[in-house]
Amino acid sequence: MTIQVEMKDIVNLCQNRWFVYPGSEIYGWLANSWDYGPYGSLLKENIKNLWLKEFIQKRMDTMLLDASLIMNPKVWEASGHVWGFADPLMDCKSCKNRFRADKLVDAKLKDGTPEPEWYAWDKTESIRLKEIIDELNIHCPDCGEKNFSDIKKFNLMLKTFLWVTEDGASLAYLRPETAQGQFVDFTNVARSSRRKLPFGIAQVGKSFRNEITPGNFIFRTREFEQMELEYFVTPGEDDAAFAEWKSESNRYLTEVIGLKSENVKFVPIKKEELPHYSKEAWDFEYNYPFGWWEIETLANRTDYDLKAHMTASGQNLSYFDAVNNKRFLPFVIEPAMGLWRITLAALCDAYTIEGERTYLKLAPRIAPIKVWVLPVVKKLSDLGKEIYSQLSEDFVCEYDDVGSVGKRYARMDEIGTPFCVTIDSTNYEEWNVTVRNRDSMEQEVIKITELNSYIKERLK
Ligand code: GAP
Repeated sequence: MTIQVEMKDIVNLCQNRWFVYPGSEIYGWLANSWDYGPYGSLLKENIKNLWLKEFIQKRMDTMLLDASLIMNPKVWEASGHVWGFADPLMDCKSCKNRFRADKLVDAKLKDGTPEPEWYAWDKTESIRLKEIIDELNIHCPDCGEKNFSDIKKFNLMLKTFLWVTEDGASLAYLRPETAQGQFVDFTNVARSSRRKLPFGIAQVGKSFRNEITPGNFIFRTREFEQMELEYFVTPGEDDAAFAEWKSESNRYLTEVIGLKSENVKFVPIKKEELPHYSKEAWDFEYNYPFGWWEIETLANRTDYDLKAHMTASGQNLSYFDAVNNKRFLPFVIEPAMGLWRITLAALCDAYTIEGERTYLKLAPRIAPIKVWVLPVVKKLSDLGKEIYSQLSEDFVCEYDDVGSVGKRYARMDEIGTPFCVTIDSTNYEEWNVTVRNRDSMEQEVIKITELNSYIKERLK
């Protein structure tokens, strides 16, 4: 029987089993900050490395970049983030809680309230939004009152100050997306790599947003990691590239990471909700315990960014097509994924309760620990450690010679370890070990010399 997983189960598992802890916990936590513990770090790293393998290592037309987190503030003026990257905020004057006005409207419309006809074309404009809230008779979700302040726009970029002179600091921003690095470095990469279109430039790394309503554990945070690829194409070839990345994104999420396909859907973003830079965009959503929410945005950014940086910097960012002897600004297709959101989706997807057993049915290739080595009795510890060294040449392993074997199996199941190698005295004499499979709980006797290839075969 499949039991619907609840967020509290995931949060408890993460905190009790070394996946994710509250950040700065000994000082009472910094709200909505999370630290990845030993297993969480490995799980997240595996998801990231598979993205790099699929989209950098295996493709001939993509390259990796690692740009600065703090860029020249002019980058964010040119990209539109300084004026456009803002949420409409509203306070409840009765309970003093703060809300995103557009999200309250979305929540009401999800309840089935018919959309006012003017909603579509005027959604983010503050005064109209306040009228929409009145029209839909929206009350405070926390205290039930209808006593809202005016709506104010709140910029999401996290500010910092750089001491550029002895007596003064200048304002800078922590990047709210990795993407602008690819645009600002476009000519450097294109020239030095001598690539012909189409080609992609990718970045994986931290981004920061001063989110007004962070929450749902690691789903919406102020500091998070993105995996973004900017795929530069000749204008006119953008629709075909968009379709290709739609199918590549789906393949990565369902086949590579192993999310159940019924828990992933792809939805078009309405024209009036598109970000300022895009011509077309679709969201990949995952069916989290708290509902369907975005895991990836796939956008056709046109030549918006290159054009904006070319105008603001005065540098020529155009591409020279030597075959047709033409200069132009390429269009950009951008699959932008949230690493933390995929990690959370992988945990929710894998959480399995079968009878008395609770375990993480993670795809073996993303499991934090691949093999757990268990000598049944202490006198087999030396051989156990030798087998650990043999296996750890190829896999991340754990060694454990304490407690009952049943309890050790349960611990390994709970963190999703797909294989457990048990050494007992009988098979020790025959130079065999027993491999226990997490999902079937079946055990197979394997020669020690064949152990690495046996496991490697099953991790593919
Ligand atoms: N460069 C385009 C861009 O940044 P986005 O939809 O704002 O697009 C891409 O972000 C992905 O980054 C999202 O689909 C989501 O998975 C992740 N993301 C965005 N904000 C986040 C946050 N506050 N916490 C965790 N992940 C976030």
